[in-house]
Amino acid sequence: MTKVLIDCDPGIDDAMALALAVGAPSLEVVAITTVGGNADLAVTTRNALALREFLDLGDVPIAPGSPGALLHPVVRAGHVHGPTGLGDAVLPEPVRAASDGHAVDLIIDTLRAAPGEVTLIAIGPLTNVALAVRKEPRVVAWARDLVIMGGSYTRGNHNPAAEFNMLADPEAAAIVFESGWTVKMLGLDVTLTAVVTEQVLDRMRPLGRLADDLLIPAATCYGMVTADGGPAIHDACAVAYALDPGLVTMTPAVVRVETRGQYTRGMTVVDFRVGEEVPNALVGTRLEVGRFWDTLLDAYGRLAERLG
Ligand code: RIB
Ligand code: CA
Repeated sequence: MTKVLIDCDPGIDDAMALALAVGAPSLEVVAITTVGGNADLAVTTRNALALREFLDLGDVPIAPGSPGALLHPVVRAGHVHGPTGLGDAVLPEPVRAASDGHAVDLIIDTLRAAPGEVTLIAIGPLTNVALAVRKEPRVVAWARDLVIMGGSYTRGNHNPAAEFNMLADPEAAAIVFESGWTVKMLGLDVTLTAVVTEQVLDRMRPLGRLADDLLIPAATCYGMVTADGGPAIHDACAVAYALDPGLVTMTPAVVRVETRGQYTRGMTVVDFRVGEEVPNALVGTRLEVGRFWDTLLDAYGRLAERLG
């Protein structure tokens, strides 16, 4: 069983990633933290709380974190995730509130309590993760792994150069890549191949309430339509990697985050050349797309049986 702490900004693909983590038999979600990103912190936190109840996550603690970036004005993706942040999915208002503490402390406390056991999965801007490593550098050693959805070595999405999570807080991303972790980076190069095609939607449709109330209304509204005729569910790739690293070809690289460029701020500059510098990342270069969907739909099927 792999324990995971998911730092997220739900967000349509965040929601589908959470559903994968809950449905996957070999993953245990031990904590969730939220960050401002796709939507304001109040919205991403409300969505995480609503997902905790909809996905039957029980007492898993949820703590809100940073509303925005360390240094610069917030960047949002409302045009992609819609006004509620979950597309056309309408989940019941959450009954239970978030934990009193801050996300940074929940990350530190969770990793300290189980050194080497918990994989930190970050699928939003890296502000909380950067603050955690600044407050308690030992989280790098305590975390079993750090898996992020972010960056790319070929192109941006929020602009030509930068992927949204990196652009939303480049300084935080730079701190994280320079903190000593070997970051497992699932960037657009692989996540853009995780496309919800009509065939995938057809495999989701029989999944009861999970499909009717979440997967279908979220996926069909997701504004990131790619050339392949469907949205790419970026964040689910990070959870899928934590579940089965064999789903992604990873290549060692030195990754630096541009924080100053007039046109390139937020760009992940990925150096695959093997030189003297020790790689600080394994970068996703290929997703086994067929097995990815089989894995996802197996987990969704197990979850759908539980949810009815
Ligand atoms: O660029 C894709 C990333 O930005 C995903 O995490 C999505 O949820 C948005 O936050
Ligand atoms: Ca996200």
